[in-house]
Amino acid sequence: MSKKKSIEKLAKSAKPEKAPKAPIKAHADGAPGINIGISSGDRRKTSDGLAHFLSDAFTLYLKTHNFHWNVTGPMFNALHTMFETQYTEQWNALDEIAERIRALGFNAPGSYAEFTRLSSIAEEPGLADTADWREMVRQLVVGNEAVCRTARKVLKTADEAGDDPTVDLMTQRLNIHEKTAWMLRSLLQ
Ligand SMILES: [Fe+2]
Repeated sequence: MSKKKSIEKLAKSAKPEKAPKAPIKAHADGAPGINIGISSGDRRKTSDGLAHFLSDAFTLYLKTHNFHWNVTGPMFNALHTMFETQYTEQWNALDEIAERIRALGFNAPGSYAEFTRLSSIAEEPGLADTADWREMVRQLVVGNEAVCRTARKVLKTADEAGDDPTVDLMTQRLNIHEKTAWMLRSLLQ
C-alpha cells in the first residue's frame, strides 16, 4: 500500500471529530443569551405586562405630583402632604418595575409618548384651572384602582410562568395601591 493510500485509509477509519458546541447565542451588544429558567416567550409576555404596568404607574405618579402642586382649598395642608407621601413612594417603585423588565431581557418604556400609548389611565388636562380637591381625590382613586387591575393581570401572567420576583413585586404594588385607594376613597365618604 502506497503511503498516500494508507493515509487516506487512516483518515476514513478515524472517528469523526465532535462538532464544536454551538456558540452561546449572543444579543446585539454581545452579551450572552438569557437562561434564567423562564422561556423567552414567557419573559416577553410578562415584560409586555410590566411595560403597561410601568406606564400606568408613571401616569398615576405624575398625576399625584401635579395635584400636590395645584391643590387648593381648606384641605390644602392635609392633601398637599398626603400626595407628597404617595408620589414619593410611587417614584421609588418605578425604578424597581423598570429594572425588572430589564432583568427579563427587554427594554423598559421611558418616554412620554410610550407611557401615553401604553397607559390605561387617561390624562385629564385642565384640572389645575378648577383645582377642585374632591375631583383630584376622585381621579386618584380611579387611577390607583386602574393600577391595581393592571397589576392583577401581570401577576397572573408571571405566576403562570413561575416568575416569582415579578409575582412578589406585583403583590407589593397591589398592597400599596389598594391601601392608597381606600385612604383616598375615605376622604369622599
Ligand atoms: Fe413639594
